[in-house]
Amino acid sequence: MRVFVTGATGFIGSAVVPELMKAGHQVLGMARSDAGAKFLEGIGAKVHRGDLEDLDSLRKGAEQSDGVIHLAFNHDFSKFEAVCETDRRAVEALGSGIAGSDRPLVITSGTGIVRTQGRPSTEDDAASSAIPRVASEQAAAALAAQGKRVSVVRLPQVHDTVKQGLITYLIAVARQKGVSAYVGDGLNRWTAVHVLDCARLYRLVLEKGKAGAHYHAVAEEGVSLRDIADVIGRGLKLPVVSISPEKAAEHFGWLAHFVAFDIPASSALTQERLGWRPIGPALLSDLESMSYFPA
Ligand SMILES: NC(=O)c1ccc[n+]([C@@H]2O[C@H](COP(=O)([O-])OP(=O)(O)OC[C@H]3O[C@@H](n4cnc5c(N)ncnc54)[C@H](OP(=O)(O)O)[C@@H]3O)[C@@H](O)[C@H]2O)c1
Repeated sequence: MRVFVTGATGFIGSAVVPELMKAGHQVLGMARSDAGAKFLEGIGAKVHRGDLEDLDSLRKGAEQSDGVIHLAFNHDFSKFEAVCETDRRAVEALGSGIAGSDRPLVITSGTGIVRTQGRPSTEDDAASSAIPRVASEQAAAALAAQGKRVSVVRLPQVHDTVKQGLITYLIAVARQKGVSAYVGDGLNRWTAVHVLDCARLYRLVLEKGKAGAHYHAVAEEGVSLRDIADVIGRGLKLPVVSISPEKAAEHFGWLAHFVAFDIPASSALTQERLGWRPIGPALLSDLESMSYFPA
């Protein structure tokens, strides 16, 4: 398949591109800069110049392909509603590029947008309508209702020994504040997957995903924020402390919005439906192995 990949230059995209090529697919990667284009050429992909704000470029990329994986996202959390609206429009534009075909479109969401009050969320649970990023899942559902083969991959914290999703920002806050912190008793949980397991799941969803289905790229159902803070504290040689919910905004800034969430999630249905088996390494193991003081 010739696969159009948006976000191909990013953390997850740059693992998805070789995963696709290893399986015999060709990749048309979206780049918005010369540096991005050079990177993609270097790893053997063809380049499509485009931008999330340029809907025509998205539509044209999708039209030239046999399938699409959408990973690009503007991570400016200070204007979260606006960037989620940009993503909703991008999903619609990519959907119009696959019109009149059964070519697959795989879009990206987060396990954190499903709230199930302590029970691990499943692929069949609906996302909370209160969270702006639900708009992308709603746009995908609308395309699926029109008969397009659109599936959603919900991501947890995706990690290796360099980047770990929101935990990368948690580490930055710990460096800045001189303590590694969690909120309250720190028993709230985040889910996780290694980036290579995540890349393999995107390929499987592209190849075998069903229209309108959600898939969870979850290897670990729930790792407590306290355990995460402990490892970061050891790595940075900093004290590990609890922050009260009232002081969380002052300590964590925009991250306070996420850091107290308890958002366990399961991937049992994804594993059963696609035969996907995450093989690690685990989040805490990658956090133990990372280099906190690069030379
Ligand atoms: N990493 C995680 O743990 C995690 C967790 C939950 C959800 N996700 C979601 O997974 C997807 C990929 O995440 P990631 O970690 O790979 O992110 P990333 O490393 O920040 O990469 C973001 C990608 O989006 C591209 N991009 C950003 N703004 C763009 C724009 N205006 N036009 C075109 N391209 C643009 C970037 O291109 P440049 O190279 O040009 O900057 C890059 O390729 C995102 O939707 C993200 O929200 C990730």
